[in-house]
Amino acid sequence: MATNRTFTMLKPDALENGQAGNIIQMILDAGFAIKAMKYTRLSEEQAKKFYEVHAERPFYGELVEYMTSGPIIAAILEKENAMADFRTLIGATDPSEAAEGTIRAKYAESKAKNAVHGSDSDENAQIEGEFHFSASEIY
Ligand code: CMP
Repeated sequence: MATNRTFTMLKPDALENGQAGNIIQMILDAGFAIKAMKYTRLSEEQAKKFYEVHAERPFYGELVEYMTSGPIIAAILEKENAMADFRTLIGATDPSEAAEGTIRAKYAESKAKNAVHGSDSDENAQIEGEFHFSASEIY
């Protein structure tokens, strides 16, 4: 995956709250192109693996339980400066600290149920995209 791509998941709270369409529209309006997308549900094993960098954090168990609690939408997005621009679009992890107009300020419930994931580096964007999609699913 080129470095002009990033990876996102719309999390179970966003889907449960019926906000998936609004969030995808915000992503498109911000100039991102969708290169891959799927509606799926993480198994416990997948969620543990995806978030294994947080395995020692106190919230790891809660995070895995939450991310497996319902379906998600996973996507690879393309845009110049994709990783950094997407993190600006989604806002801070804690919605109470997220800038006005960001996806998390509008739609996230809490630090744990924070509506969307965005990769934190180009390297992780590639790893996370490949975690969810095979080459034939990326356009
Ligand atoms: P995400 O961007 O997917 O990356 C790691 C996730 O861990 C983060 O979003 C939150 O959903 C979750 N997380 C981070 N910090 C906390 C916390 N203090 N308590 C609960 N969940 C957290």
